[in-house]
Amino acid sequence: MSGGNICVCYQVTEDEIVGWIRQGVTTVKGLGEHCNAGQGCGDCREMLEELLEDFGDAADDEIIPAVSRARQ
Ligand code: FES
Repeated sequence: MSGGNICVCYQVTEDEIVGWIRQGVTTVKGLGEHCNAGQGCGDCREMLEELLEDFGDAADDEIIPAVSRARQ
């Protein structure tokens, strides 16, 4: 399923959405501002929320320990 269109209205792929999340986008509204995902019919918004939960947390796990170590 990876790489398929999540937002059919704007032809936005899962890879693109995950890319924005990893760059720090934390809300569905934010994704819409960056790549238009979720700005049409709205059917994909639930999927966007799930990706934000899944990959937002993963990105935090990767980034926070490195930052914490650098500051100690
Ligand atoms: S499928 Fe994303 S807004 Fe319609």
